Amino acid sequence: MKEIFHRTSIRKFDRRPVEDEKIEKLLRAAMAAPSAGNQQPWAFFVVREKDLLSRLGSSTPYSLPAANAPLAIVPCFQKACMMPEYAQIDLSAATENILLEADHLELGAVWLGIAPAEDRMRTVEQILSIPDTLRAFCIIAVGYPLEEKTQEDRYDVSRIYYPGAVRRQLDLADGKISLKEIIEELEAQDNNQKTYFDKEELDYLYVLNEENPDEEDRYAMELVEEDPERYAVMPTKYEIHEYRIMESFVKSLETSDAQNRLDNAIHGPGAFRRFREVARQTGTEDRWRRFRDRAYRDIAADWCRENGIQYKD
Ligand SMILES: Cc1cc2nc3c(=O)[nH]c(=O)nc-3n(C[C@H](O)[C@H](O)[C@H](O)COP(=O)(O)O)c2cc1C
Repeated sequence: MKEIFHRTSIRKFDRRPVEDEKIEKLLRAAMAAPSAGNQQPWAFFVVREKDLLSRLGSSTPYSLPAANAPLAIVPCFQKACMMPEYAQIDLSAATENILLEADHLELGAVWLGIAPAEDRMRTVEQILSIPDTLRAFCIIAVGYPLEEKTQEDRYDVSRIYYPGAVRRQLDLADGKISLKEIIEELEAQDNNQKTYFDKEELDYLYVLNEENPDEEDRYAMELVEEDPERYAVMPTKYEIHEYRIMESFVKSLETSDAQNRLDNAIHGPGAFRRFREVARQTGTEDRWRRFRDRAYRDIAADWCRENGIQYKD
């Protein structure tokens, strides 16, 4: 809805009065808001008198825009309603509806907070002679705008959580994932785990145990099933096949004592541990580390290319 992404707080207004039809539209929008148990605890004071506007403008340290506006609407809530604890929440929904409708009508508006500050509520109630059964909620200053503002983009993915699924958010300011980041993820792959990269949200989605999924795993699996194009599955531990990388490394060494010993080490049970031990003894540990890093880097880069994921080195 375009008004949601266009509205900003407008605090400077033309003196031109707001037409009655537009005021009615603002109030209709307010009363279209949701409320707890549909209790509709609201009442609206429509203020156009200059003296009252000016007094509302000095009713709080931050309410000055009301003094310069041709119109203020003061939403109030009934003290005695079905669920009083929700009354102010209901009034917030109604207030936001007014702000959005104002934007739609090419008016400007700003929400000037009153409730829950008791002294401010009382001041405004006195200024407008609001009856005892009602409490002032806020002041909405409205008028034709004298300032133009562009709404800032406040969308922030780090504020979003998907409690149904296990996810890890990545900070990809330029939309590119670094190979280092992918390699870390590849190295963390667990036996039954499947990791998906969400190409839209740019984060990881995990199925921790595909063989024996729990609720969260099942939910994640459903997400992937619903939109398989969106998720790129990462190479599993089996596909990375560290053993094969060790074999290639041994083959890559010139024929030597080290090669013979490493070749022996990778055969039979306990191969991984023995291989690391012999690499240390034969002084090939650093070469192995570099070889392994390159192999992981190639797997990561191939995976990005295959899945159309932008990456950086
Ligand atoms: C509960 C509430 C109270 C506010 N009170 C004031 C206020 O007293 N004076 C004011 O100038 N703006 C007030 N604002 C407006 C905020 O300052 C404004 O919404 C915020 O800075 C974000 O800017 P935007 O509305 O242009 O997106 C209030 C907004 C809310 C939601």
